[in-house]
Parts: sequence; structure tokens; C-alpha cells
Amino acid sequence: MTISRRKFAQLLGAGAAAAVARPALSLAQTAPAASPAGPTIVRLSSNENPYGPSPKALQAMSDAFGLACRYPDEQADALVESLAKVNGVGRDEILLGDGSGEILKLCADVFTGSGIGRGALVVADPTFEAILYHATQGGAEIVKVPLTLTFGHDLPRMMAAAKGGLVYICNPNNPTASISPKNALREFIEKAPDKTMILVDEAYHHYADSPDYESVIPLVKDHPNLMVARTFSKIYGMAGLRCGYCVAQSYAVERLRVRQAWDSINIMALAAATASLDDPDRVTNGRRLNAETRSFIIGELKKMGYETIPPQANFIMIDVKRPVVPLIATLKQRKVQVGRLFRAMPNHLRLTIGKKSEMEAFLAAFREVMA
Ligand SMILES: Cc1ncc(COP(=O)(O)O)c(C=O)c1O
Repeated sequence: MTISRRKFAQLLGAGAAAAVARPALSLAQTAPAASPAGPTIVRLSSNENPYGPSPKALQAMSDAFGLACRYPDEQADALVESLAKVNGVGRDEILLGDGSGEILKLCADVFTGSGIGRGALVVADPTFEAILYHATQGGAEIVKVPLTLTFGHDLPRMMAAAKGGLVYICNPNNPTASISPKNALREFIEKAPDKTMILVDEAYHHYADSPDYESVIPLVKDHPNLMVARTFSKIYGMAGLRCGYCVAQSYAVERLRVRQAWDSINIMALAAATASLDDPDRVTNGRRLNAETRSFIIGELKKMGYETIPPQANFIMIDVKRPVVPLIATLKQRKVQVGRLFRAMPNHLRLTIGKKSEMEAFLAAFREVMA
């Protein structure tokens, strides 16, 4: 942080200094809109964080306006430095991404398809589809392995399917909000052949509080084939800013980096992400608010006779006991946007946990539609 502040100051010209001296933005001015689609739309479709970025992140962006004319080298260095510290790894073991979506794309580009060191993509079904899309565009074979009966990844079957290439494990899993138990995941990583790369996507890490969940970042030091993706889009409320990162050993990081555009993360996102790491209370509060609101909606749904997969994320998967596609459309007509169809679970509705008022609006529409 000290280095980056000094470099910030060196970069600033007289004009930019005026911008930095600007008084703090009032939070009322910067509070997130109820929905990007408009004030009357309730958006519970994309697992966004309704509370928005940390006030420290908003201030850091305001302070960085004057740097918009500069390339973001120093700011990227500062964020890498902070992330290396937070995750207990070296700076060369962090790769920043334009959202974790960029990390997923790079992994698909580098490790799937045909050629030396590449192979099939093995995924759970259902899971977050972005990486399937990228691997498919690259001509890779995709192997889908159904989730277990408790909605964990079927790791023995995924291991049997993996022959080089890449295994993608989303934990907690989108769309089921379920986790893969820590012992099973650790064993999988220990036993997987070195030539098979493993990408564990921990986008929803901060929302998981089960004793059976753990991050696999501490395992990176012993496993050259392990990569972990994280994002600032969820608990840090920065989905629109686009910032994520990968933790992996330096050789894997370099293999990804050479396929990445230079300076792919913008200076506002870098400033906001670095400041967010300095606001741990925001994480704690975000997690608490999510858990409270999630309990509320699950309780209300239960009263109506609808069960939810036990959730470890900022969204829930509801068994609506009927095809979800017409339901999604009917809710949309009532100005409530919910998650898309996941073909492996056609009778389940994925619902993002918004603010309590948004969940009440969903419930009112849901009651009407399901009556
Ligand atoms: C599991 C998972 N990984 C990655 C992403 C992409 O996130 P980002 O905004 O960091 O690109 C998402 C977005 O919803 C997600 O659900």
C-alpha cells in the first residue's frame, strides 16, 4: 500500500491532483440502484450483491479519477501485493483477471482442446457454464458428470473421466449453492494425475460457512496442477467493475498470462479491489445480511411447501415441482427477474438473495403465480 500510494503521487500531475483533492462522494449519491434494469424491476437473476461496493472502494475510485489517463501498472502491482499477502502466496502466484470470468476463459484456452498439455474439459452437471462455453468454442471435448445425490461434485467419477486436460470444480457450486466436502476435495487434489489441471472456482467462497467447506488455496503450494479462481464480483459487490484473480504456482500463472491481453483490468476496478481488501467488516456484514435474508426466504418458501437445497452461497435453488421455464417468464411479466434454466434440473428455480424488500417482492409474485 505504501509503495502504491507513493507511486500514485508521482504519477499525478497538477490537474489530476485537483481531482484527488475532491471531497468524498456521498454514499447516498453512489448507493446502487435497486436494479440496473430500472427502479421497478426486482433483479434476482445474476447472483449480484445488492449492497454494492465498500464505501472505501467508492472513495478509492473517486480518488483515482485523475489517474484514468494512465496505464494501470502500479495499481495492478499494488493489488497483486495485497492479494499475495491475504492468500499467503508469492506475487508470482497471483494472476489478475478482468473478472474471474477472464481466468476461466484463459484456463479453457490454455488447457483444453487438442495439442500438447491440453485435453477434455470435465465438469459437473449442472455447474456454471462459462467455462464450457469457452472450451466448446476452442473445439474441446466436454465431459459432464452429474452431481451426487447431495449435490456435491462426484469426484471419483470426475477423476475417472479426467485424462489430461482440465477438471473444473465450482465450490460452492453455481447453480445449486451446494459444496463439495473438504475431505473428498482434498483427496481428489492429492490423487489427481499431475498432467490433469484442476481449476477450483471459489467465486462464492465468502458465503460458505459449513464446517465441511474449505478453500483449497493452501493446497496450491504442493500442487503444480491446481489453480483457484476468486472474484470481487460477489461479496465485494463489484460485478460491474470486473476484477477477479487466480492463485496457482508460478509456472501455471505464466502459462495463463501469456494468453492474456496486456492491462486487462481497468484502473477503477484495481483501486476499488485494493481498498475493499482493507474493509473486512464489509465482508462480515455482507455475509451476515445474506444469511439472515436467506433464512427468511427459505422459511417463507417452506411454509408454502417448497424445499431448497441447503445453501452455501448468495443464492438458493428451489424445487418448484413444475417446469421452471414458464415460471421464469411469468415472474418476469411481474417484473421479477430470476435465474435461468439449468437443463439438468428443469424443475428448480435459482434465486439470488437480494435485500429483504426484494425477497418480499419476489414472494408476493411467487404466491400469485403458484396459487
Ligand atoms: C461460479 C462463478 N464463477 C465465475 C463467475 C464470473 O464472475 P466474474 O464477475 O468474476 O467474472 C460467476 C458469475 O456469476 C460465477 O457464478
